[in-house]
Amino acid sequence: YIDAMLHYKYNLLHLHLTDDEGWRNEIKGLPRLTEVGAWNVKKVGEFGNFIPPTADEPRTYGGFYTQDDIKELVQYAKERFVDILPEIDVPGHSLAAIASYPELSCTPGAENYRVRSGEKIMDWSRGAPPIALIDNTLCPANEKVYTFLDTVITQVAALFPFEYIHMGGDEAPINFWEKNESIKALMRKEGLKNMHEVQGYFEKRVQNIVEAKGKKFMAWDEVLNGNLNPSAAIMSWRGMQYGIQAAKKKHEVVMSPTAYAYLDYMQADPITEPRVYASLRLSKSYEFDPIPAGVDPKYIKGGQANLWTEQIYNIRQAEYMTWPRGFAIAESLWSLPEKKNWTNFFGRVEKHFNRLDVAETKYAPSVYDPIFSVSRSADKQLIVELTTEVQGLDIYYSFDNSFPDRFYPRYTEKLVPPKDATTLKVITYKGKSPVGRMMVMPIEELNKRARK
Ligand code: ACM
Repeated sequence: YIDAMLHYKYNLLHLHLTDDEGWRNEIKGLPRLTEVGAWNVKKVGEFGNFIPPTADEPRTYGGFYTQDDIKELVQYAKERFVDILPEIDVPGHSLAAIASYPELSCTPGAENYRVRSGEKIMDWSRGAPPIALIDNTLCPANEKVYTFLDTVITQVAALFPFEYIHMGGDEAPINFWEKNESIKALMRKEGLKNMHEVQGYFEKRVQNIVEAKGKKFMAWDEVLNGNLNPSAAIMSWRGMQYGIQAAKKKHEVVMSPTAYAYLDYMQADPITEPRVYASLRLSKSYEFDPIPAGVDPKYIKGGQANLWTEQIYNIRQAEYMTWPRGFAIAESLWSLPEKKNWTNFFGRVEKHFNRLDVAETKYAPSVYDPIFSVSRSADKQLIVELTTEVQGLDIYYSFDNSFPDRFYPRYTEKLVPPKDATTLKVITYKGKSPVGRMMVMPIEELNKRARK
């Protein structure tokens, strides 16, 4: 993966080493983090809704880097001018740590928690912060948590020469904190007025630990709620606006917004793509401008593409998700906006597809898949519009359940599906060659989208 990054001038690998699904780096003196915390149950199906594993299912899926592995990786990257930014994500996303050391939680019953295997643990239906179904946070009111973090950060600081340590801070649910007596006592003692201030208290203590080890503290944009000192660097993920806010408050900023830079998102229609939280097409990634108007550029340290891997089970899928959006983000980070040109860029993308073919690196052909838009006529008939991100493609379609090729009707204007049709099948061609995938779209799905 580092070798592939180099071709496109990526010079920093951010390793998200801990989360609900696993703890990935050895910490001496805390053996359970990798004996227990690195392992879950391999499931297949729809991630997020897996049936919770039973106690007898083997926890054999996962793994971790020994400290020697990390040294080797850091060295390999360094020889290629790539730095590695380690992330220890706290206080949320900490189920692997809690499953290993339940005393880090202040919620009763945490001793029964297990590393997540993709079962549902959060309810996002009411937006952020999520309602946690189990408490995946380290307890801000527990001194053992700070001792634990001191041990972890001491070793992480020694293993990774990079000057920053990323301490997470994203998506920490507060619903367990709100009813916790030790948190209430902490609020009284420290004069904390709300849960933002509770997390702010935690972040300040963590920042002190990081700085005591001679490193700079970095965290996700939620930590801005805690009024941290400007010496905290901010990684803006929920949008550009938090990075803008942070830069105005004189924080260093890395832009990695979901809107342009989330490589774990789907690249085209969910009808063909492995289903994930949201979609982000190549052309949208190419619009990424890490230095928005009105911000002093000196605070913008750079930009980053995020490939979250909780739903990525092998390196082929990691490659598929990275390319070609990785090209778009690299070019957006290294080129002045006025130098960018989508048509010119896409010509080069296709040349690089040929290179990736030769290298047997996987990439997504999703950019060739058409975009379905639906509407209703005055008399309530379904109308389907097909467009493509790329110019010069022909779309062929069928409503009769057979597989279209270039001898089928070519799409030229909006379609009204025949009354009895059950599927719309489409495929894109460039001249005589199919380039997109066969998309099989149920008419019922289009009707559902039209109702929304
Ligand atoms: C994040 O995507 N939760 C940083």
